Parts: sequence; structure tokens; C-alpha cells
Amino acid sequence: MGLKNFMIFVVVSWFCSIPTTCVLAAKQKQTQNQKLRFDENGEFKILQVADMHYANGKTTRCLDVLPSQKASCTDLNTTAFIHRMILAEKPNLIVFTGDNIFGADSSDSAKSMDAAFAPAIASNIPWVAVLGNHDQEGTLSREGVMKYIVGMKNTLAKLNPPEVHIIDGFGNYNLEVGGVQGTTFENKSVLNLYFLDSGDYSKVPGIHGYDWIKPSQQLWFERTSAKLRKAYIKGPVHQKESAPGLAYFHIPLPEYASFDSSNFTGVKLEPSGNGISSASVNSGFFTTLVEAGDVKAVFVGHDHLNDFCGKLIDIQLCYAGGFGYHAYGKAGWSRRARVVVASLEKTDKGTWGDVKSIKSWKRLDDQHLTGIDVEVLWSKSFHDSEMLDLKAQMVLKREEKNEITNLHLSS
Ligand SMILES: *[C@@H]1O[C@H](CO)[C@@H](O)[C@H](O)[C@H]1NC(C)=O
Ligand SMILES: *[C@@H]1O[C@H](CO)[C@@H](O)[C@H](O)[C@H]1NC(C)=O
Ligand SMILES: *[C@@H]1O[C@H](CO)[C@@H](O)[C@H](O)[C@H]1NC(C)=O
Repeated sequence: MGLKNFMIFVVVSWFCSIPTTCVLAAKQKQTQNQKLRFDENGEFKILQVADMHYANGKTTRCLDVLPSQKASCTDLNTTAFIHRMILAEKPNLIVFTGDNIFGADSSDSAKSMDAAFAPAIASNIPWVAVLGNHDQEGTLSREGVMKYIVGMKNTLAKLNPPEVHIIDGFGNYNLEVGGVQGTTFENKSVLNLYFLDSGDYSKVPGIHGYDWIKPSQQLWFERTSAKLRKAYIKGPVHQKESAPGLAYFHIPLPEYASFDSSNFTGVKLEPSGNGISSASVNSGFFTTLVEAGDVKAVFVGHDHLNDFCGKLIDIQLCYAGGFGYHAYGKAGWSRRARVVVASLEKTDKGTWGDVKSIKSWKRLDDQHLTGIDVEVLWSKSFHDSEMLDLKAQMVLKREEKNEITNLHLSS
């Protein structure tokens, strides 16, 4: 607890002897925790941390680092990397996309999570997590792990959507990101975030390998997407289509195999088979996403040596690349993280409108946190207002040219 937080704590504790003030303080804390929104600079930035594989901290050794790095490398290097990423990027939200802990090597799953998420909690930045296929291999079940995460400080993660009685997995939920306060979009979700549990291993005899996103989860996604679309199209500022969405989970969809180096940005270094460790069956979630139409990009982890984004039917399928040092990797190939930033349109009234573009890059855990593979994942199609903008700019350019010509003439 910093001095400032400590002072707030003292003041709030003291005020709580007066009941109404106490309720107010509790309420403020609650609303603070609930609402994500774009900041005054019209941006919302998400840091994705994939596959920390955290175990017991300083006694857990790193995998696949150079021989010269072996002696000094532990889970604490993973912690240091998160700290550096948070300081460098100052994200609005941190998303941990599973295999956050490596259950099999952890002596206490709760303690491993405490340590793994500590830098996010200390930053006071809201954070969320979904489950991978290794999180439940320690002292807690999948339900136990997700319940523990939901109870941690500053997290917006949920066990499951409260409006749904039966859904597969743990940690299916969505978050709305509101427009800038004081603008016409202040009460609208201009960016929708979906988080899903992609499971661990197939439970169906005869089907081997990894799990998949089940029909119950897809139905929840469809209904949520439709509900958000309806709310977005409705007043006070009527919109023609859904706000863009981003989906985060752990195991890649089979469609991640649709690319090669000619049509993705990043690398695919996984050696096995086609280089993608998805389920061996296709449960159709990609088709569900295409039909719903709002999700513009999907972000997964799981394959630590893949870090690419490729676009299939207008949806970007992205990996973050491995983050954790107790996760397999490639010696000499830096651990990395993905950053996504959504930017709002500046309206002609000079305030902020809806989302104009979604960009992404990665940073490597090297001396300078080198940024690589900057790309635009999505941008809003040309609307009338933009055409007018463009025309205005062309007129301006012509005027500039005239000015230059005039200058030449007068000199
Ligand atoms: C791990 O952290 C130690 C202590 O800060 C540092 O000396 C070492 O270079 C780090 N190793 C890697 C692979 O980053
Ligand atoms: C947003 O909601 C608040 C509280 O209900 C209201 O005062 C405000 O006018 C609304 N803003 C817009 C742009 O509709
Ligand atoms: C990427 O390019 C390969 C050929 O190099 C092609 O087979 C594949 O269909 C392409 N994928 C997409 C999504 O365009």
C-alpha cells in the first residue's frame, strides 16, 4: 500500500463511523471497479499477457533460455517483465489469456496466482484473466482457480455470466468499454470485450487433444453480441452497425491454420504438425463470430512460439507469443507481449466519437523492450462524414498549393 492509498484507507476507515459516508465510499469503490471507458486522449489500450506458467517464484527455474542465462533466471523474471510492460505501456486493462500458472509445478495454486498477478494488482490497473489448459493442474480445480481469480483485487473477471444458468467452463464473461465521459458516447459501449474458457483437454472418448468452445458458450456469445448491438444502434446517438468487439481466450481456433508467412504478420515457429495446437475438431466458433459480425480480432496464447496475426474473412486471428520464463520457449528468442490500442474518431464538433481504428504491436523482453510488428488490425469503413473530411482536406491542400504559388508570385 502506497502512502496515498494508506491515507485514503485511514480516512475512509475513520469516516466509516458515520454510516452514510461509509456507504458512499463503498459505492465509489464499486463504480470505479465496474466501468471501463476511453480516456480523454480518445484511446483504450490493452496489454495481453499469454502463458506466464507461474509456479513457485524464485525457486522455479526458467525453461529454454541461453546457457549463460540459466543460473540467474526464475519466475521472478516473469514478474519483472510484467512490471516493465506496465510501466512502458500504461495500459487501461491487462488481460491474462490462460496458463497463468503451471499447476503441475506449483506447490500451492493460490500462492502461485498471488505472485503471478501481483504486478497487475500493484499497478491499480483493472485486469482480467481466463483459464488455459494448465491452470487446474495444481491444488485447485478449474472452478476453484477461476473463483480465486474473481475474488482478487482490482479484477473485473467473472466466474460466468449471471444471466445464464448453464454454460460450459469457468470464466466466460464480457466487458463494455464506454466512450469518453462528457461526449455523446459516454453511456454507450463503443468497444466490446469477450472472454471465454476454451477448456483444457477433450473429454470425448475417441477425440484426443485439446478442448473447444462449446455450443452453450457460443449461444451466450451470440445473445450477448445481439443485445449489445441493439443497445448500440438505439439512441441517443443512433448507430448503423455494432460497435467493434475483441475476443480473448487461450486455445487457438482451427482456423488459425489458414495462414502462412505470405499472409500473416509475425512468426509461426511451433514445430509440431501444421504449427497450430487447436482442438482436433472444429466446434464452429469462428463461423459464429463471422455471423455475429462485431468481433474484429481474436487473441489467444497457448502456442508460445507463434506470435502472428492473420486476417480471415475480416477477422484478425492473433497470438500474443509466450510471456513466461517457466514456459517452453526458444533460447535466444525473446519472451513477448501483445498490446492493442483502440482509437476514437474525432468528431467535427471537436469531441470524441466511436472507434475509428484498432492497432497492435508486440514488445520483446530485451534491454529496450523493443516494439515490433506494428499493424492496423481494423479500421472503420469510409462513412459519409469521413468522405466530407477527405474532401475538406483536399480543398485545404489546394488552398495550400495556391498559397505557395501566390508566395512564389509575390517574391
Ligand atoms: C533474470 O533476472 C535476473 C535478475 O534481474 C537478470 O540478471 C537476468 O538477466 C534475467 N534473465 C533473463 C533471461 O532475462
Ligand atoms: C448519460 O447518463 C447520465 C446519467 O443517467 C445522464 O445524466 C447523461 O445525460 C447521459 N449522457 C448522454 C450523452 O446521454
Ligand atoms: C495464405 O496464403 C496461402 C498461400 O501461400 C494460401 O494457401 C492461404 O489460403 C492464404 N490464407 C488466407 C487466409 O488468405
